[in-house]
Amino acid sequence: MAKSPGSVVVLFNALSEEGYDELKHVDPTTLGFEPEYDIAVSTVSEEYQAIVKALRSEGWKVRSVNLKDDLKVLERVVKRNPPDVVFNLVESFRDEPEFESAIPAYLDLYGVPYSGATPLSLSICRRKGLTKRILQSHDVPTPKFLSLWEPSVSLRHGLKYPLIVKPAREDASAGLDKGSVVADRPALLARLEQMLHEFGGPVLVEEFIEGRELHVAMLGNDPPEILPPLEYDFSELPEGEPPIISYAAKWNPLAEVFHRVITRCPAPMSRTLQRRLSKACLGAWNAVGCRDYARLDIRVSKKDEPYVLEVNPNPDLTEGVSFMESAEEVGLTFPGTLTSILEMAKARRTVWPPPPPLGNEPRPVEMGPMGPLGSLTPPPPAPDALD
Ligand SMILES: Nc1ncnc2c1ncn2[C@@H]1O[C@H](COP(=O)(O)OP(=O)(O)OP(=O)(O)O)[C@@H](O)[C@H]1O
Ligand SMILES: [Mg+2]
Repeated sequence: MAKSPGSVVVLFNALSEEGYDELKHVDPTTLGFEPEYDIAVSTVSEEYQAIVKALRSEGWKVRSVNLKDDLKVLERVVKRNPPDVVFNLVESFRDEPEFESAIPAYLDLYGVPYSGATPLSLSICRRKGLTKRILQSHDVPTPKFLSLWEPSVSLRHGLKYPLIVKPAREDASAGLDKGSVVADRPALLARLEQMLHEFGGPVLVEEFIEGRELHVAMLGNDPPEILPPLEYDFSELPEGEPPIISYAAKWNPLAEVFHRVITRCPAPMSRTLQRRLSKACLGAWNAVGCRDYARLDIRVSKKDEPYVLEVNPNPDLTEGVSFMESAEEVGLTFPGTLTSILEMAKARRTVWPPPPPLGNEPRPVEMGPMGPLGSLTPPPPAPDALD
């Protein structure tokens, strides 16, 4: 039998799975529209278990660990029998998305390698306004915007309508619905007030890019590979719905819009657009310091100019969906893609020197493969923007 590539803990934090069961009992004929996709979408746990199964099929010795908001579980992972590598799928802790970055920070302190982005990169990308400012400073095109804490906007704000109003520190299309795209000042002020009330500040008011939407999956390091983009086609949306991936379009299989946004991969593209897209995506990846894999959400203007809406480090890896759809397009399998992400992470393994002795005698320094302390792998150079 082939040698196992190593041991891995698939780490996630999932608490309730309310609502999924009810979906299994919905009669599609009662919806009042023709559903395009399955109503009984898979639960988060089912998606994690599919990853576990796929890694086992590749020979990894896998432990699946649900933190369930309990720090002791994480302590046990790092202190007792740590794995060769952690597949970090944690997105929040104690219902606080800002704690997403604390989990890899903890793993860093213990020298346990993990897949995906660094704590810094995760923290930056949680803040859309900050990310956009960093992109701008690297000449990566992103829609013009204001970041606001108050429900007022200067009369001469300099942005061209239509505008989109969205919470700056949410993800997963939270706060995005039929009213998100505004065409005039009264609608802008009303929506701004509503978003501040529901999500707090800051709220982004951004130029709405009327054009195609592409999601670009990137995989690897130095440099990453840009996988064939996935296009979201809004032409089947019901009359009056704005062409966006709203919250309902993304998450609610009982809503018609969920069934009317069609994806296409690979997205057809001119050579010029391909070139501009690669430049923007590599620029964005470097600017915020992505690692291993990421997904960039892009809108393309009528003049074929790509604009980066946001950078998603550690994006969803559900089989056959989004990132994985792009990977499969270049012949990568679901298990193979997961393995390549883990191999990149495993190669960052840090063997810390032994802790200082408690007595008087200094202990000899252990020899790593690169000489004294040589196995202390230097961290990768930080991109300029993060200095
Ligand atoms: N400036 C814009 N121009 C056009 N469409 C936009 C713009 N900003 C947001 N959108 C639409 O809203 C969707 C969600 O926006 P965005 O990606 O910024 O937020 P998110 O909630 O973090 O998304 P995700 O679900 O990918 O985490 C986009 O996929 C796009 O359809
Ligand atoms: Mg997005």
